[in-house]
Amino acid sequence: MGYVENTQPNTEVLAKEALICPGFYTTNIKKFASTDTSSFQGAFSTAIANLKNDYTKDNYIRDERFEQSWDHIQGEARELIIKLLEMYCAAEYSGFILYKELSSELKETNSVLSDGFSLMSRDEARHASFLNKALLDFHIKPGLGFLKKEHRKYIFLPFSWFIYSTYLSERISSCYYITIFEHLEFHPEYSIYPIFGFYKSWSEDDNRHGDFFGAIIKSQLQLSNGLKAKLACKFFLLLIFSVTYFKYKSNDKLLALLGLDAREYYVFTIRKVNKSISKDLPVVLDFEKSQFFEELDICLLHISENEKINISNQNALLKWIRKILHYSTILLVMLRLFIRSQTA
Ligand SMILES: [Fe+2]
Ligand SMILES: [Fe+2]
Repeated sequence: MGYVENTQPNTEVLAKEALICPGFYTTNIKKFASTDTSSFQGAFSTAIANLKNDYTKDNYIRDERFEQSWDHIQGEARELIIKLLEMYCAAEYSGFILYKELSSELKETNSVLSDGFSLMSRDEARHASFLNKALLDFHIKPGLGFLKKEHRKYIFLPFSWFIYSTYLSERISSCYYITIFEHLEFHPEYSIYPIFGFYKSWSEDDNRHGDFFGAIIKSQLQLSNGLKAKLACKFFLLLIFSVTYFKYKSNDKLLALLGLDAREYYVFTIRKVNKSISKDLPVVLDFEKSQFFEELDICLLHISENEKINISNQNALLKWIRKILHYSTILLVMLRLFIRSQTA
C-alpha cells in the first residue's frame, strides 16, 4: 500500500492505493478459431453490428451529479460502497484483458470473433475506467500492477466451461444492473451515489456481450445440440445459479443499503436470467419442479454448520469428519437438483 495524490478536482485529500485483483482466464484458442461463423452468419452479423453501433458511447460521462464531495458517506455505508466499486473494478479489468487477448489471439484465424472481442474489450475498458474514477471519489486509487502481463497468473478453463460461464456472467451482470437501476428509479431516496444512474447503459452493454456469446454457443454444435450438450449445460446452470444464490448472504448489507432484500433480489435475478437464456441454450432449469431455492437453503444451512466447525476448538480430525458429513449432504442435494431440474 502506498499513498498518491488524488487527481480528482475539488479535493486535495490524499488517495489510498488499493490492490485490485482481477481474475485472468484463458481457454482452448484452437476451438475458438475453428468456430464456423458463416453457418450462423445472421446471429453473428446482428451481434457485431450492435456492438459496432456503440449505442452507449456517450452515456458514460461524469456529469454535474459527481461534482461534489462524497465524504458525508461514512462508516459502514462508505465501506460497502468502496467494496462494491473495488469488486466491479476488478471484474471489468478482468473482462477487458480477457477480451483484448482473445481478440489478438484470433486475429489471424477468425476475424469475426476477433472483431467481436475487440469491441467488447472497448466496452469493458470504458466500464473499468468509470469505476476507477468512482473509486477516486472515495480517495481510493486502484493499483493497476496487473496491467503488466508478467504480474498475471492465468487460469485455464476447458472450452465449454469457459463459454458457459462467461456467457452466464454477462447475462447475470446485465440483469443485476437493470434490476438495481429500475428499483432506484422508483426509490431515488436510496440512490446514495450517482453511479447507479449509469446501470441501464451497463446492463445494455452486457446484454450485447451475452448476445455475442449466444451466437458462439449456437455455432458450436457440441455446446448447443445433443444429450451431452444438454447435460453439460444443465450442470453449468446449476453450478452458476447456485453460486449466484449463495452470494445473497454476503451481499445482504450492501443491497439493504440500496433498499433491496438480498434473497429476493437474487431469486428474482436468477429467475429472470433463466427465462431470457432459453433462446441461446439447449436447456434451462425448472425451479418449481426441483424446488430449487428451498433445496439451496438446505445447502446454506450445511455451509454455515461447516463455518461453525471451522472456528470451533475441536481437534482437526474430528472437525474433518463432521465437515465431510455436511459436504456429503450438500452433494446429495445437488444431485437431487440435477435429476429433478427438467430440461426444456
Ligand atoms: Fe463490463
Ligand atoms: Fe460485459
